[in-house]
Amino acid sequence: MSKILVTGGLGYIGSHTVVELVKAGYEPVIVDNLSNSNIKILDQLTKIIGFKPVFHQLDLCDVQSVISLAAAEPDITGIIHFAAFKAVGESVAKPLKYYQNNFYSLINLLETYYGRKINFVFSSSCTVYGQPDVLPVTENAPIKPAESPYGNTKQVAEEILREMTASGSACKVISLRYFNPVGAHDSALIGELPIGVPQNLVPFITQTAIGKREKLTVFGDDYNTPDGSCVRDYIHVVDLGKAHVAALKLMETEGYSNIYDVFNLGTGNGNTVLEVIKAFEESTGEKLNYQIGPRRPGDVEKVWGDVTKSTNVLKWTAELGIADMMSSAWNWEKYLSQNPF
Ligand code: UD1
Repeated sequence: MSKILVTGGLGYIGSHTVVELVKAGYEPVIVDNLSNSNIKILDQLTKIIGFKPVFHQLDLCDVQSVISLAAAEPDITGIIHFAAFKAVGESVAKPLKYYQNNFYSLINLLETYYGRKINFVFSSSCTVYGQPDVLPVTENAPIKPAESPYGNTKQVAEEILREMTASGSACKVISLRYFNPVGAHDSALIGELPIGVPQNLVPFITQTAIGKREKLTVFGDDYNTPDGSCVRDYIHVVDLGKAHVAALKLMETEGYSNIYDVFNLGTGNGNTVLEVIKAFEESTGEKLNYQIGPRRPGDVEKVWGDVTKSTNVLKWTAELGIADMMSSAWNWEKYLSQNPF
């Protein structure tokens, strides 16, 4: 069984990917510093996969810890690197915190594993495209100047990875550009666990519906979109987890010689904020309290992905639609209200 290091493996996308790795026959080795995750997720994962996964609590920004980890787990064949800060607004207020955390951890990992034959999967984001000139946006679209330090960490990290592979590292790398990950595992045992007030749309919707928040504000209804609210390509987190397995499998394929590649991970379709609210209400039977408010600074008007390359080369396609995304997110919120973390 191949051992895969999953950094940030107790986080939202990391935990769902751990489940898919086990289903696909891989052995996950989780690393997390618990800075934005909860140790209880380890027990929740144990309930889903039937055994307690190996877990190392450590900070990847400390190079000695990474070196010790590599010595303690000598037979790692792949790394999926999720561990990073991701709040756009906070990154504007605290850029150094973002550059320090997101770069130190990446560079420590790359330095440690530079000479080893490792298949490395990087969590990137559609944020690298900014507001694309052409939709759906393909992987070849120009990278726009980043709107935030967070976005910049993704752009520069992609460059670091490309340059590292070109310089003769034994690692192969795939960067996965996520669109908007939402939803939860169908067991309702894991899901998104925002600390404090959620910044992202779907946890704000579910927290409003359960009564934790009074009402959702739709950030703007005067955009050039079908109903005036912003358009995003929402992707179910379980589909996203499967895409990471597909990326590992692609790099393991005999004859696959690309040392660096990049793929969009979305459904290929956009939904407006108001459509998401409607989908939530229809798939859960809950009425959502919401109001229209002003635009949120820094929001792009519309973005959705061209997934032709992911379909043809990664051999991966999203299977779950917006109704599944909303009902699973809602089931997780209801679980949390009965079983507070
Ligand atoms: C952005 C980035 C994404 C990044 C993510 C990290 C883009 C296109 N996407 O996602 O790459 O990984 O941040 O957090 O830059 N909304 C409301 N009311 C709310 C919350 C959100 O109307 O209370 C709207 C937003 O205006 C937006 C949509 O919902 O149109 C989705 O917002 P959000 O979930 O925050 O994700 P993005 O900003 O798209």
